[in-house]
Parts: sequence; structure tokens; C-alpha cells
Amino acid sequence: MKKVTTSTLKKMKRDGDKITVLTAYDASFAKLFDEQGVDAILIGDSLGMVLQGEDSTLSVTTDDIAYHTRAVKLGAERALIVADMPFMSYATKEVAYTNAATLMAAGAHMVKIEGGSWLLETVSGLVERGIPVCGHLGLTPQSVNVFGGFKVQGRLPEQAQKMIDDAKALEAAGIQMLVLECVPSALAAEISKSIDVPVIGIGAGANTDGQVLVMHDMFGISANYMPKFSKNYLAEHHDIRASVKAFIEEVKAGTFPGPEHSFE
Ligand code: KIV
Repeated sequence: MKKVTTSTLKKMKRDGDKITVLTAYDASFAKLFDEQGVDAILIGDSLGMVLQGEDSTLSVTTDDIAYHTRAVKLGAERALIVADMPFMSYATKEVAYTNAATLMAAGAHMVKIEGGSWLLETVSGLVERGIPVCGHLGLTPQSVNVFGGFKVQGRLPEQAQKMIDDAKALEAAGIQMLVLECVPSALAAEISKSIDVPVIGIGAGANTDGQVLVMHDMFGISANYMPKFSKNYLAEHHDIRASVKAFIEEVKAGTFPGPEHSFE
């Protein structure tokens, strides 16, 4: 068993081997996902919605993410552990350093922050201090109130160009992974081609370097809500391990996400 590192992910992108990522918030699911071969586990601030029942991610704290990161770390042996930095926990560089250090001490191998050009100094400062960073562009849920709802981003030509510029600038600042959420497939494909950093999509079509899903979505736990970009693997496979295995196989084969899970 070889641990997944930032070098592993880079090599996977170079080799065209798709990267699989799932969210997890506890040791049991982290262990199960790890055993099935998921490459990275994200302790997402989605936990505000799927664990805490809030209608956005804004109330999540660094202590919440640290608590769940400690649990995930005890379950995952192989996967790279990525911890989300919550709303306002990286509002300034100095605040970001302190909070990222808390998450790394809890067991994260990388932290994820939402946003583009305004974050460049924060990204380079974190990387210089030994903290790998994952960027997040497109529908960044911490900005839901600015967007006026959870909406696809990058459909207008000027928005699309800004996202491409932001992705390149974040790469130059030192990010080692990039999440693209709810963006048109063609734009996600173009961004994935224009940078060397692995790009992980969610609602970003099949032509990214990997895919991430929120575990509660892929198991259909929120019974009356399934985002267009997700798929209820448990309904199809009737077993949690088989569902995770199918997700990995479909991502590697390029059959998930299909056009029905993607945006134009
Ligand atoms: O919080 C989260 O789970 C995320 C994923 C949707 C990428 O940021």
C-alpha cells in the first residue's frame, strides 16, 4: 500500500489516470473509502449541510473541520486527506496560516480554499510555510449569498475568461490541486488542459482529471434531493462498498459523469 501524495496526483494527471475523491467526515467511512481505493478524502464544509442540517456551509468552524479531520485520519491509511477551510477562516493571510495549521495538526495533508485572484498571496504564503493548497473555483458555496443561490458559474464569456485566468494564477501561486464546481463542461475541459495541476470536477463534466462527490449524495441519503451532477450509486448497487467501487470504475472509465450530470 503506497500512500497517495501530491506527487502521486501529479503523476496520475500526466498518465491520464483519473483521480477519485469522496467526502467523508468520520473514521468508518474514511476506512471503507480508503479500502476501496479512493485517492483522496475531503472533509468538506458540506458537513454544515449534510451533518448539521444547515441550508448553507457558512456556519461551519475550523474546530468543526478539525474534529472531523482527526476522525478521518484514524480511518484512512492510503488516501490523501484534504480539509476544507471554512467561511472567513482565510479572510486574511495571517488568519489563514493559523487555521490551516490547526487543520494540518489534526491530520490533513492539504487544505482547500474557495476563490481566485484575491487569494494569491495567501496561497503562496501557505505553500512557503509547508502547507499544500487545493483551490476551488466555479460555484464556491461560501459565496452563495453573492451569487444569489447555488448556480452554475462561468457561462458568460467574461466569467469564463476570468476563471481560466484565476486557475493559471492560482497554479503560479502554488496550488497543487483545483476543484471546479458547477461549471460548463467545455470550460472545465479547457482549464484542465491549460494547467499542470490536477483538476477535480463536481458538476464540471467528464473531461477533468478526476471527480469528487459528496458521500451523502452518492448514497442518496438526502431522500428528496439529488443534485443534477450527482448519482445515487446505492440505489443501483444496493451495497455501500459496491457503490464506491462502481464510482471509482466509472470515473476511471470516463463513463461518470455523463451528459445528464453535466452543464453546458
Ligand atoms: O464541501 C465540500 O464537500 C466540497 C465539495 C463539494 C467539493 O467543497
